[in-house]
Amino acid sequence: MKRYTKKILISVLMGMVFLTTHVVTAVSQGEAEETARLLAILLDAGRVVIDRNQLLIDDQHKGNKGFTPQVFERQVTDEFRARTGVDLTQLRAAHVPPMARDLLPALIEASKDVVADAQVVINQRGVGYKNFIPATFGSQAAARFSARSHIRLKQTALRPRNEKNTPDPYEEAVLSRLVAQPSSSAPVSEVTDEGKTLRVLTPIYYTKDCLKCHGGPAGELDISGYPKEGAHEGDLAGAISVSIQLGGR
Ligand code: HEC
Repeated sequence: MKRYTKKILISVLMGMVFLTTHVVTAVSQGEAEETARLLAILLDAGRVVIDRNQLLIDDQHKGNKGFTPQVFERQVTDEFRARTGVDLTQLRAAHVPPMARDLLPALIEASKDVVADAQVVINQRGVGYKNFIPATFGSQAAARFSARSHIRLKQTALRPRNEKNTPDPYEEAVLSRLVAQPSSSAPVSEVTDEGKTLRVLTPIYYTKDCLKCHGGPAGELDISGYPKEGAHEGDLAGAISVSIQLGGR
C-alpha cells in the first residue's frame, strides 16, 4: 500500500515537472509574440508621427522646425498609449512582458537617433520635399534597432522600393497569402526553425494619404523619384516583420 502511494506520488510529481516545462516554453512564446506585436505597433506609431508632421517637415519657408527628438518622443508616446493603453513613461508599472521592458525603450532610442540625425535636413530652409518620410524613417529606425538588439525588425513588401526591404522566403510566402485575403490588421505569427525562431508579420494597408506616391497612374514618378505602384486604398502595402530567437535572450 505504502509503495503504491509512493508510486502515485512520483508520477504526479513527474507530471508536474512535465507540465511546468511545457508551460514555461508556452509562456516565453506568448511573451515573445506580445513583444513582437508591441514593437511593430511602436515602429508604426513612429511612422504615423512622421506622417502627421510631413507638411511641417517639408515647409520650405521655415528654417528651424522645432521637430526635435524630444517632440517626436512625446508624440510617439501619445500615439502608442492611444493604440495599446501602454504608457512608455511608466513601463515598470505597465502590463507588458519582461522582455518588452528593455526592447520598447531601445526602439524609442533608435527612432529618436534617426530623428536627431535628420535635424540638419529637416531644418533646411528653401527645400520642400526632403525625403524624410514615414518609410525612410521606418527603414532606418528598424535597421538601427536590429543592429543593437538580438531582434530583427524590418518593413517589407512584395515589390519593395528599397532593396533592403526585400522579403525573405518566409515573408514572401506570408505576404503572397495576405494579398489574396480581405484586409485585417491582425498579426500573423509562426514558430519556425524547428522551434527556434518566432516570426511575426503585421500587415500594413494603403490609406488615401499613401496614394500620392504609391497610387496611380502606375509607372509615373512620385515626388520621391520612384515609379508609383498603381495601388488602391485598402490594398496590402507590406508588413512590419519581427523575428525573435526563442530562448536566446
Ligand atoms: C512621399 C511619398 C510616399 C508616401 C506618401 C508614402 N510612401 Fe511608402 N515609400 C516611399 C518611399 C520613397 C519608399 C522607399 C523608402 C526607403 O528608401 O526605405 C517607401 C516604402 C514603403 C514601404 C516599405 C517597402 C518598400 O517598398 O521598400 C512600405 C510598406 C510603404 N512604403 C507603405 C506606405 C504606406 C502604407 C503609406 C501611407 C500610410 C506610404 N507608404 C506613404 C514613398 C512614400
